[in-house]
Amino acid sequence: MDPRTTVINERLRRIGRIIAVSSGKGGVGKSLVATTLALTLARRGHKVGLFDLDFTSPSTHIILSAKNAQPKEDKGIVPPLVKGLAYMTLVYYSGDQATPLRGADVSNALIELLSVTQWGELDFLVVDMPPGISDAVLDLVRLVRNIEFLIVTTPSLLAFETVKKQVTLLRDLKVPIIGVVENMKMNRAKNIEQETKKLGLKFLAEIPFDPKVEEAIGDEKKLLDTTLAQKIKEIATDNAI
Ligand SMILES: Nc1ncnc2c1ncn2[C@@H]1O[C@H](COP(=O)(O)OP(=O)(O)O)[C@@H](O)[C@H]1O
Ligand SMILES: [Mg+2]
Repeated sequence: MDPRTTVINERLRRIGRIIAVSSGKGGVGKSLVATTLALTLARRGHKVGLFDLDFTSPSTHIILSAKNAQPKEDKGIVPPLVKGLAYMTLVYYSGDQATPLRGADVSNALIELLSVTQWGELDFLVVDMPPGISDAVLDLVRLVRNIEFLIVTTPSLLAFETVKKQVTLLRDLKVPIIGVVENMKMNRAKNIEQETKKLGLKFLAEIPFDPKVEEAIGDEKKLLDTTLAQKIKEIATDNAI
């Protein structure tokens, strides 16, 4: 076993559940679902962390309007409280730099962040994952013992095709999958629901396309007032999250 796993799991020891919000492709609403889920759980009185690990396009800091927050250094790094969430993002370190990290650099940054971040005691840590089955995803699954996945897709079979690959991989690695959310739905087609069930996974909900979502970026109160947030509350209640 990787010796760093011990350090990382020691850091994550006092976290009840670690929920990775993931997708096959980008642009499906993963960051909005992850942020809204974290805010919803926090509003219910839980202690919640949000960890943006999307190395390709971190965006939760924009959704939360977190530009003035900075982590503190104290025997590691203590995430600041943003809108009631313990909040950590790569953006603290990469700033507005245009070049994304690549290859081994991604792995090193991921391991470094996991090793130094002092989450303390949390009921939930929600992780906004990079899309697909990149090395970062594999590293995270390998390093974090009690991680579970919530998968977001759009109604497109093209998006779902990449979900299938991810599901196969997660199953091979024996990682629990909470279920699949179909986001930005604009009709009543049941194909994604059927495909999800064919895979033997739970179909969690349909989230309609809601123009209020785009207007709510940067304003968490507005975000919690969207149909997307309403659906996420239901998912959390119905699935004991
Ligand atoms: N249910 C929804 N209704 C309307 N727009 C949405 C919805 N979900 C996501 N979006 C929009 O889709 C875009 C991608 O969302 P984002 O969360 O950044 O996706 P990802 O993290 O998967 O790349 C954003 O512009 C967002 O406003
Ligand atoms: Mg995103």
